[in-house]
Amino acid sequence: MNERRSEAGSGGAAPPPGPGPEPRQRQNLEPGSRERLAQEAPADPASPVQGGIFWSRALEQQVPPGFDPEQTALWLETARAARVASLERGGCGRSSNRLARLSDGSRACVRYGINPEQIQGEALSYRLAELLGIQQRLPPMTLALVEARGRQWGQVRDELRGSHWTEGAVVSLTQWVDNLTDVVAPAPWRSEAGSGRRLQPLAAGELGGLTQSQLVELVQWTDLILFDYLTANFDRLVSNLFSLQWDPRVMHRATSNLHRAPNGGLVFIDNEAGLVHGYRLLSMWDKYNEPLLRSVCIFREATAQRVRDLHRLQNAASELLRLYRTHEPLSGRLGFLSEQQAQLLQGRIDFVHKHILHCKAMATSL
Ligand SMILES: Nc1ncnc2c1ncn2[C@@H]1O[C@H](COP(=O)(O)OP(=O)(O)OP(=O)(O)O)[C@@H](O)[C@H]1O
Ligand SMILES: [Mg+2]
Repeated sequence: MNERRSEAGSGGAAPPPGPGPEPRQRQNLEPGSRERLAQEAPADPASPVQGGIFWSRALEQQVPPGFDPEQTALWLETARAARVASLERGGCGRSSNRLARLSDGSRACVRYGINPEQIQGEALSYRLAELLGIQQRLPPMTLALVEARGRQWGQVRDELRGSHWTEGAVVSLTQWVDNLTDVVAPAPWRSEAGSGRRLQPLAAGELGGLTQSQLVELVQWTDLILFDYLTANFDRLVSNLFSLQWDPRVMHRATSNLHRAPNGGLVFIDNEAGLVHGYRLLSMWDKYNEPLLRSVCIFREATAQRVRDLHRLQNAASELLRLYRTHEPLSGRLGFLSEQQAQLLQGRIDFVHKHILHCKAMATSL
């Protein structure tokens, strides 16, 4: 979903083909672990699930490609070097955000955090997605330093004055994606208030009657739910679940901060509630986050492997810091997770790993 690619074509965002970010990251993971799990789980080519708890390879191959890692790296480099040619209100959410046109012709949503933890959460969540191997579902994102007299912002000095952004603030730039549409949660999570139904479990035995495209969508949702659990992001499915109290049909409405690209792939936008803000409000939101996680008993095998390795090596925070420092030139400006937040992240990794083992045990006992 690279802007320049799409502009050369139909004018819409055309997601590029190609693999996800996997090969780059496997070096950090336990060698051979994927092979061992595959051995434990002989695949039935006709089944959407293999080994009791993993989406089949054939199904995963149907998932529409997201943001190609090479194109992403290229855009990030370009966006960091580009000058902001214009800043417009509208199109990017709340009134403190702006739509920027960059000197290379691409566009980006610029988010200004009312609270610095929002931009920090956005940047760290983006890197956690990289660590988990799911970054291709998030639009490319980088940080920028607002300096009205600097090279990057000099052309939009007047617009900056109207934005009320603080000089020296760190903002996030997210690549603009054309033609995003809304996404309603699929059936397992489409509970209605007062129906007495809890979240339906998503396990291998519950997939009967689903079409191929519904299954392909579920593959992406299981990554999303793991991601949002790990980051404690309450501003997506969880906020909809919360709203059930006064809006019984909220689960039939669009999910916040989730969109569909024209190729059908899901795009996880606005991850600012993750890791920092979310961890501060755990006691309020975990009563929604945890049942959501427990409702999922099928996983992308690669994601489960990442979780398993991060559990085994107990290095989630240090790996996150390594990626953040390596790939985000302004990482030093915002600081990293506190020791307590780092422990919370590791604790949540361990919890997800335990949950996956539980699902495995349940599937084996059937
Ligand atoms: N990178 C992007 N490409 C295309 N559209 C985007 C992008 N980022 C945001 N938008 C559009 O702006 C809307 C709001 O974005 P976002 O959630 O990031 O902002 P917000 O400040 O949380 O606003 P809101 O409170 O409306 O959710 C999205 O629903 C989408 O329509
Ligand atoms: Mg939002």
